[in-house]
Amino acid sequence: MFSRLIHYFLLVFILFTSITIQAQTYARNGMVVSDNRLASEAGVAILKQGGNAIDASVATAFALAVTHPAAGNIGGGGFMVYLPTDGNATTIDFREKAPLAASPTMFLNENGVVPDRINHDSALAIGVPGTVAGLYLAHKKYGKLPWKTLVEPAIKLAIDGFPLTWALYNESKVIRDSESSTAFLKNYFLKPDGSPVDFKESWKQPELAKTLELIAANGQDGFYKGKVAQQIAAFMKTNGGIISIEDLAKYQAVEREPIKGTFNGYDIYSMPPPSSGGVTMTAMLNIIEQADLETIPFNSTAYVHLVIEAMRRGFANRAEYLGDPDFNLNMPLDRLTSKEYAKKLFNNIDKNNASVSNPEKFSHPYDGDDTTHFSVVDNAGNAVSVTYTLEQSYGSGLGDSTLGFIFNNEMGDFNPVPGETTSNGQIGTDPNLIAPEKRMLSSMNPTIVAKDGKPFLIVGSPGGRTIINTVFQTVLNAILYDMPVGQGIEAMKIHHQWLPDVTYYEMDKLSPDTVEQLEAMGHNMKASNQLGRLMGIQYDAKNNIYSGASDSSSPDGAAVGY
Ligand code: GLY
Repeated sequence: MFSRLIHYFLLVFILFTSITIQAQTYARNGMVVSDNRLASEAGVAILKQGGNAIDASVATAFALAVTHPAAGNIGGGGFMVYLPTDGNATTIDFREKAPLAASPTMFLNENGVVPDRINHDSALAIGVPGTVAGLYLAHKKYGKLPWKTLVEPAIKLAIDGFPLTWALYNESKVIRDSESSTAFLKNYFLKPDGSPVDFKESWKQPELAKTLELIAANGQDGFYKGKVAQQIAAFMKTNGGIISIEDLAKYQAVEREPIKGTFNGYDIYSMPPPSSGGVTMTAMLNIIEQADLETIPFNSTAYVHLVIEAMRRGFANRAEYLGDPDFNLNMPLDRLTSKEYAKKLFNNIDKNNASVSNPEKFSHPYDGDDTTHFSVVDNAGNAVSVTYTLEQSYGSGLGDSTLGFIFNNEMGDFNPVPGETTSNGQIGTDPNLIAPEKRMLSSMNPTIVAKDGKPFLIVGSPGGRTIINTVFQTVLNAILYDMPVGQGIEAMKIHHQWLPDVTYYEMDKLSPDTVEQLEAMGHNMKASNQLGRLMGIQYDAKNNIYSGASDSSSPDGAAVGY
């Protein structure tokens, strides 16, 4: 009786505000979960002003470009999955593009090798940014509030500054002390007098504020035309980059049909190529669905074995078939995401022994592990899932001091050496070779799971290739094991990506006995730190309440609701 009274009290309380219990935030009217509390608050403020989930997403994305510079950005790109209340899910692809002057062999020297990681660490590694165009397209098609209103919170954060968090303060010190940091980054956290911004001291970004003001005033053109575009092109010329005024003027974000899968009666909406996230995760869910799941407890040897084998098969197909759909017109997406195909893949899993990843076959090259995800829901129930990135943490580390933002190094996500596929994970297959105006293959996997047309789980993560797997396992945790979102995010994760043939598992979260049994089956098990940094919102239809959680590995992350 007493606990029922408490429950009732909580429900009434949450009608008017939000509440955080055991790392989960509960709210009735709307929520934003992102890698930075100020950015989540900026999104919720927009919801409170009558904005919808798209408006809140645009405001959160711009705010993250100020408060979470490692991955929040206007100089990179990403993906948005949108499930409005009418059920017509859609996606926006604002992935960066190769410049017009790019070519499949642009990173190779006379010996046919890529010298000095120039596909990651040079101005040549910068792709034509897509973020501003993507946010503008989302606003134009689905937003409610004026564009300026959505950029305003970010401008205010950049002009007024905000107290440097402990995590940002430490990052700024590491950047300044590192020999490999670029001059632009070393200056990034300095005050006008040249001294470093201290912990809790207000960090202001006046140059970034000016760029954001041009974007606020002129929309997409504020970035891709005029002063900003001219400055970007001038920067490229003096620093060995190849992005031109024409590249910027031509850039457009694209609305694409989502990958629509089902799993145990739930609908799964995720990103189509040029992200590999949706196809690969859907294929893996379809494989898992074939198993007699009632008999397989979470974290058991049988469970981990099955999940590894699903990943092995999903990632093999990813490497072989996926790339930019505007250049690869015959990708077999229907087959790769079909239940019949999953049945075949499931049937060749040996229940007692690991399969072998054939090094004659494929995997994907290095892709970065710093990216950021945010999840949003508004009071009507419209849901948005956005993952965007600069590729590596702080991208290329390059930028123009008068523009105040960091350029991506996304060109490193293309296959760098045509025809060269190695067992350590570099591939050279055609679908993801460089071509002018082509988008590089991604692993980003913003996802919305729906039940009876309503969003049930809005989730995503950074982490390069691990993104697909950490989101996949969080979906399994919610649907198969009824875990609340916070628990599902924190629960043990593994990562296998076909090649190299290694399973990484979160140390301390998997029992040594289980690891031993998996090794006896032929799995190459390697203990790893935390996998993923998930941001999720879950809907409890029975009690009509949203619960949100930001991964404990995100030092500044926060679920904010109202
Ligand atoms: N740059 C990481 C990804 O797109 O997957």
